[in-house]
Amino acid sequence: MSSMKAGSIVIIGSGLIGRSWAMVFASAGYKVKIFDIVQQQVTSAMEDISKQMEELKNSGMLRGSLSPGKQMSLITGCTDLKSALDGAVFIQECIPENLDLKQKIFRQLDALASDNVILSSSTSCLSPVKIFTGLKHVKTCIVSHPVNPPYYVPLVELVPHPETDPATVETTYALMKAVGMSPVKLLKDIDGFVLNRLQYAVISEAWRLVKDGVMSPTDIDIVMSEGLGMRYAFLGPLETAHLNGEGFESYCQRYGEGIKRVLSSVGPVPDLSGEVMEKIHQALSDKVPADPEHLNARRKWRDACLARLATLKKEMQ
Ligand code: NAI
Repeated sequence: MSSMKAGSIVIIGSGLIGRSWAMVFASAGYKVKIFDIVQQQVTSAMEDISKQMEELKNSGMLRGSLSPGKQMSLITGCTDLKSALDGAVFIQECIPENLDLKQKIFRQLDALASDNVILSSSTSCLSPVKIFTGLKHVKTCIVSHPVNPPYYVPLVELVPHPETDPATVETTYALMKAVGMSPVKLLKDIDGFVLNRLQYAVISEAWRLVKDGVMSPTDIDIVMSEGLGMRYAFLGPLETAHLNGEGFESYCQRYGEGIKRVLSSVGPVPDLSGEVMEKIHQALSDKVPADPEHLNARRKWRDACLARLATLKKEMQ
């Protein structure tokens, strides 16, 4: 990965995710260029990143061994795509989740980027087939889907297009590892990728439990944060089962019938609107009012928790 340090990582789109990616790459010593079509976005991204880095340094949560000043010196911003791509080795697209916009920017990148530059998208749920099909550089295209906020949550789902060169997957995987992320590879494309499929299964059952009057929304969140989530921060559901039985086989033999019985009572896809939605919204708003001030304060607290958890996870490895 040291060869990548000779060139630049280009971040396309300087919103929430673009800023976080820029900080991740700079923290590991990579040169980063931030490109956005809105000059004001670039300016505020640079200011915001600088402020965040100082705050992280003061709270002892800055990633990497470089000072905030050194990390900032690796980041530049611009609004001219051609000069942004000059010297690019890896491009991480972070523009809004809209297929037309993504297709348009990737057509531009396809026309301007040199061969071998990896064109990576942060898309949460758009298929690589829809974004990359027909591009002349399709072999070097990949989805690298982060979890918000990537600075604190290391998982990245790597989703290739069917024509993506395996070397692109391996290089992206190695780069993500080099910057302290935890990449996982999807062996084939599936709607929602994996993280969101698991997350939606949980949301769907939580919805049904509220709808059927089994538990309050607040208590359901406690089941996860004080119960399942405690383990899941360290072990996935499959290893949890492996340890809960005498191995996964014995777990299935012991608990399989009960699991199948419960799962057969799982209802249809929830409509995600109406009375149940209002009830959940009300319960959550009683705890954290849904205005920017309260939500941002809670997000800050969440990020601080995640940073502390990351430290603990490193210690426990
Ligand atoms: P955002 O709305 O905060 O930022 C988008 C940025 O893209 C803005 O600065 C905008 O000016 C810029 N932009 C728009 N068109 C552009 C263009 N043609 N060229 C360059 N810049 C352009 O969006 P956010 O939340 O950062 O999301 C970006 C991507 O990351 C989306 O695909 C989203 O699905 C994905 N993602 C978002 C997560 C989240 O929780 N926000 C989590 C994981 C992935």
